[in-house]
Amino acid sequence: MPNITFSSPLHKDKTVYAVAGSLTNTVLTLAKDNHIPIDFGCGNGECSTCLVKVTNLSAKGPMGGPLTDREIVILKQEGKITQAEIDAMKVDDIVHTAWRLACQMVLRDEDLLIEYPSK
Ligand code: FES
Repeated sequence: MPNITFSSPLHKDKTVYAVAGSLTNTVLTLAKDNHIPIDFGCGNGECSTCLVKVTNLSAKGPMGGPLTDREIVILKQEGKITQAEIDAMKVDDIVHTAWRLACQMVLRDEDLLIEYPSK
């Protein structure tokens, strides 16, 4: 089970265990279940309120992905990913940005640092 550490300048850091492998188990779901106050709005990848910065703490390599189509649109609008990074991701299947939407990012078997709020 991966360890997910939530960190914010406004709140005490908190590390929780996550269950990986469920397509419905997002970073936002885990945060809500553990009373971690990540801001969110639509819950559907459309508003960018849940923008977080993610660092993979596992020695297993780069952060798993992929970004959802909605994440790509929003991250591009917010200036958090470039077209070159999007193109590279489609080739090597590696996420080339640390920025994610908590409501869209599905948890995998990797330890993560989630920094919020990110704006
Ligand atoms: S809550 Fe709106 S994009 Fe995540």
